[in-house]
Formats: sequence, C-alpha cells, structure tokens
Amino acid sequence: MKALLLVIVAVCVKFEPGRGDSPCAHSPHTWCSSAEAAVRCGVLKHCLKANYTKLQQTADPVKVEVYHESLCPDCRGFITQMLYPSSVLLRDIMDLTVVPYGNTQESFDGQKYVFTCQHGEQECLGNMIQSCLLNMTRSNALIIIFCMEAATDVIKAAKSCVELYAPQILWDKVMGCVNGDLGNQIMHQNALKTKALKPPHTFVPWITVNGVHTDDLQDKAMSSLISLVCNEYQVMSEYS
Ligand SMILES: *[C@@H]1O[C@H](CO)[C@@H](O)[C@H](O)[C@H]1NC(C)=O
Ligand SMILES: *[C@@H]1O[C@H](CO)[C@@H](O)[C@H](O)[C@H]1NC(C)=O
Repeated sequence: MKALLLVIVAVCVKFEPGRGDSPCAHSPHTWCSSAEAAVRCGVLKHCLKANYTKLQQTADPVKVEVYHESLCPDCRGFITQMLYPSSVLLRDIMDLTVVPYGNTQESFDGQKYVFTCQHGEQECLGNMIQSCLLNMTRSNALIIIFCMEAATDVIKAAKSCVELYAPQILWDKVMGCVNGDLGNQIMHQNALKTKALKPPHTFVPWITVNGVHTDDLQDKAMSSLISLVCNEYQVMSEYS
C-alpha cells in the first residue's frame, strides 16, 4: 500500500508536462523512472500500467461527475482541454460520469418530455446525441463527445465522430434513439439527476467529486483535474 501511494504521489507531484530537458533522448529503460519523464515520452499509460500490475490497487476509483450542455463555451473548453486528456491518464483511478443536460428546462406535454435548452434547439440535439451515445457505448462515448466538442460545428461533427471512434454503431441507430422514446427517457433521467444536485448547480460545467460539490473542488477540477483526482485518491488510499 505504501508503494502504491508513492506512485500516486509521483504522478501528482511530478506531473508538469512541458518542463525539463528531454528524458526521451536517454535510453528507453529510463522512460518510466518518473511520471514526468513518462508523460514527456508519451508512455505514461504504459508505465502506470506496469506499476499497477506490480502493486495492489488499494482504494476505489474517485467518482467524478460532470454536468454540462453541448454548446456552452466553458463546457467545450473544459471537455476538450481538461476532461478528456485527464481521463486517458486517470483511467484506473477515476470513475467518470458525464451528464449532458446543464441548464435545460423540462416539461411534460402529456405524452413525452419536452426540453428547452439554454443555447437553443441545436444544443438540445447535441445533448441528446451525447446522451444516446453514453447509453449505447459506455467505452467510446467520451472520445466521441470530445471529438464533437473540439469541432467547429458540434452537431455537424457528430456523425463523423461516431464513424471514426465507434464504427460498429450505425448512425441511424443513434438517430433512432435521439428521436424516439429511449432518448426521451434517457434525457428525463439526466434531468432528474441534475435537479437532484445538492447544492443545486448555478452554472456549467458543474463538477462533483465523490458526490460533493464545493467552490474549492470546482476550481481545482477546472485548473488541474489530474492533481485533484490524484490527491483524492491518495487520501482515500490512506484510509483504506
Ligand atoms: C513506477 O514506480 C517507481 C517505483 O516503483 C517510481 O519511481 C516511478 O516514478 C513510477 N513510474 C510512474 C510513471 O509512475
Ligand atoms: C439506457 O437507458 C435506459 C432508459 O433510461 C436504461 O433503462 C438503460 O439501463 C440504459 N443503459 C445503459 C447501458 O446505460
């Protein structure tokens, strides 16, 4: 357990990409010598995996929930620059849930739920596509959401993002979900989940860590999700 802690500390303390001289110039056996070296040489995942196989994992993954909406500029920035890249590095110690809904309003017309989105109908469509994908392919949904949010036109990009990252999923099936009862139900679940937040969200993206939202956790998640999750994981490891 001590040893694992050291590894996590190493990742947290030494994760400063873009600094120091190139360790990749040295022989490959030094690449895993520190997390920083591993990041710079593009082999962090490999090194972490090697380390984790050697050591017993001691704590549960840190639960991170992100409440966003598809066209909000801050959400797009966070997903593309922070959330997606961090999720790749933190795969083993972060349990991530993404809830596309945000400041959407919901009403019931007697047969189905009707949604009104902050940035208009296109945003509702983007939220729905992302929600259907999260329901259809848990493993590939995040990279597709990243691909959409990184594109100039979030909605137009959706089809090519799916074709690129989940070619096994037919676009017609996605749109079947989007326009059908399943999509309506899934979005209603997102509404319930978002409305249940305590404290209620006042902006997006809204982040909770192990079910908790504070200004401090939000700020840390926005500025360095990697450090935050590493630190939380360390604390949890110390108590397990
Ligand atoms: C792998 O573990 C060693 C100690 O066993 C540590 O020094 C090194 O920093 C770790 N590498 C990474 C990438 O965490
Ligand atoms: C997909 O959504 C339906 C309706 O909300 C739900 O019953 C089902 O469990 C979801 N499946 C996954 C994998 O999330």
